Amino acid sequence: MATTSADRIIIALDVQTKEEGIALVSRLKDARTFKVGLELFTAEGPALFRKLKALRKDIFLDLKLHDIPNTVSGAVRSAFKHGVQMMTIHTSGGREMMAKAAEVAREIARESGRPKPVLLGVTILTSLKGADLEEVGQGSDVASQVLRLAGLAKAAGMDGVVCSPQEIEVLRKEYGRELAIVTPGIRPVWAAAQDQKRIMTPAEAVAKGADYLVIGRPITGAPSPNEAFLRVVEELA
Ligand code: C5P
Repeated sequence: MATTSADRIIIALDVQTKEEGIALVSRLKDARTFKVGLELFTAEGPALFRKLKALRKDIFLDLKLHDIPNTVSGAVRSAFKHGVQMMTIHTSGGREMMAKAAEVAREIARESGRPKPVLLGVTILTSLKGADLEEVGQGSDVASQVLRLAGLAKAAGMDGVVCSPQEIEVLRKEYGRELAIVTPGIRPVWAAAQDQKRIMTPAEAVAKGADYLVIGRPITGAPSPNEAFLRVVEELA
């Protein structure tokens, strides 16, 4: 769990190449954790992780895994070997899939003596609305589906969930401090909203109970990314 304001901030490394990614990471000398998503991972693979490790950075691998329990837990093991600290798994993959992943996470930490990787459940993608859920047979109430899936993640031994800023409060209230909450959609007051619609400032999100904030463009697109990062840290402190 994050111990300082700086540790709460995860930088979204939304670039296409290792070179761009490393250039950005090198400029963000005070940031600790970087989120690598599908785009960059598909382009560069784990070779990127060696570079991040050499720069002494932590990795949040956001691949939103969803497969049979054996395959997902195998992927957790593989990611751990590459030094990944946090990763995402789709809660809709079911209890057994999450439980097996969580069991493997505990096992590899025990075997290696290294900290356990943090497993985060993805509930409902914010791109899906009620009608989209209905189409895939899930019922149209997004909020109750998010709550249900977060509860399943907790019961399965996952460490936390990723959610939108609007969901933080209700998840905190329902599941207490046991589930870590990671939220994107964060915009400091001095930053443009861009394509994010339902945004919250870093301080608001933390006040509502977020443990980690995923922030991309307000920091990565700033003239000095490290200064922008420190500005957010200051706002949080
Ligand atoms: O640049 P920005 O701060 O908007 O980046 C936010 C990051 O969080 C991006 O990597 C984006 O894919 C991710 N994200 C999001 N909203 C979600 C889920 C993930 O913005 N609902």
